[in-house]
Amino acid sequence: MSRLVVISNRVGDPRKVAAGGLAVALGDALATSGGLWFGWSGKIVEDGATGEGELHQQRAGNVELVTIDLSREDHDTYYTGYSNQALWPAFHYRLDLADFGSGFFAGYQRVNRLFARKLAPLLRDDDVIWVHDYHLIPLASELRSLGCRQRIGFFLHIPLPPPPILAAIPGHEWLMRSFFAYDLVGLQTNEDADHFGRFLVGEAHAERLADGRFSAYGRTMRAQAFPIGIDVDEFQGLAESPESRETETTLKQQYAHRRLLVGIDRLDYSKGLPRRLRAFRELLANYPETRNSATLIQVASPTRESVDAYADIRHELESLAGEINGAYGELDWMPIRYMHRTWARKRLPGLYRAAKVALVTPLRDGMNLVAKEYVAMQDETDPGVLVLSRFAGAAEQMREALLVNPYDIPATAQTIQRALQMPLAERRERHAVLLKRIREYDVHAWRKDFLGVLAETAEAAPVT
Ligand code: G6P
Repeated sequence: MSRLVVISNRVGDPRKVAAGGLAVALGDALATSGGLWFGWSGKIVEDGATGEGELHQQRAGNVELVTIDLSREDHDTYYTGYSNQALWPAFHYRLDLADFGSGFFAGYQRVNRLFARKLAPLLRDDDVIWVHDYHLIPLASELRSLGCRQRIGFFLHIPLPPPPILAAIPGHEWLMRSFFAYDLVGLQTNEDADHFGRFLVGEAHAERLADGRFSAYGRTMRAQAFPIGIDVDEFQGLAESPESRETETTLKQQYAHRRLLVGIDRLDYSKGLPRRLRAFRELLANYPETRNSATLIQVASPTRESVDAYADIRHELESLAGEINGAYGELDWMPIRYMHRTWARKRLPGLYRAAKVALVTPLRDGMNLVAKEYVAMQDETDPGVLVLSRFAGAAEQMREALLVNPYDIPATAQTIQRALQMPLAERRERHAVLLKRIREYDVHAWRKDFLGVLAETAEAAPVT
């Protein structure tokens, strides 16, 4: 059997990651098959110091972790700069926030080349290579130019916006060329795959072949949606941890006579947190019975704090939470319990179980695994309700959630109220369908499906 080689910017110990996200899913996928996981070590070597590009190797079960240090300049241009100030906002439909700063793209290319140079000597002829996310789009073309002929797949964890948005990225031709160095490109949703196909045909003048294949630049590549899932059993198992049980019991006692709602997100502008709080304020204003009762626990984990847009969203959220608590709070009740910190993964199930309603209302999200985790954790006899943004990738598969348009604040408030009042029979019915679906296409099915299709694709031909 071929070895699986996974490459992602972040190589994580899944047990330390808070909620959802790429590292958790990849950790789960790799733990099953074993293999090599290559990426950034998380360490930055200050400019002028030695050690830049140093490799670290360690074993975690059947997975060999190989990570690399980045210089300050590479980190600032490749990760903070091009990946998170240019590609992230653009791919989340936020060209207004995109900064294509000078030196960013050069740094991005340089690090992709560095990754390729360090990885190539570790590869075996029959390896299957799987590259992840927007940080590493050019990695396959860099590997190909070093003579790699293995099959290479790519999975994009974030949304793929409509063609005019991609076309606004300065020098976007590199994007199309880079994608054609892969044998298979996976997207989260059918909508993303549709945008991608139209972009390739319209901008790269690619020819659309059968079975989701496209040809351009002398190569053929296949593209299709593979909606990422969670490891339902593993996550349900976590609910048995003492930390999770303790969290559940404490919260259930504290909120025995109140209604608990939960939101768990990275503090990212794509997550729609200020609008979520405004909808919650509208709920309190329009439905007096929710006062002194409905309580939102909002965990917002710190992320990418050196980028201005993230500092701005933090200030906005914190002042809004203070304003709402100031206006509606009582001596013995605060409507919003806001926490700006990362939550231990082993406590999460308890929090999900204690909450009657989960608010997953991003303005745009690749998939959003919190939505799936919340459903997985509900008690089937008395399940909570998921309020889900129609703009989260998860909405394509989770139609039985209460779908909202997060830009429509009054309608979102109304839907939250509907969730709080939903009769038991309807909650059970919706939950049963959702749980079945996330079980059927869990993280293992996702991995098998992607790697199965990759194996079917034609032998990789060298890029010309
Ligand atoms: C999203 C991205 C991942 C990224 C994660 C955390 O889920 O798709 O690639 O790793 O956010 O962000 P960070 O910048 O901390 O890696």
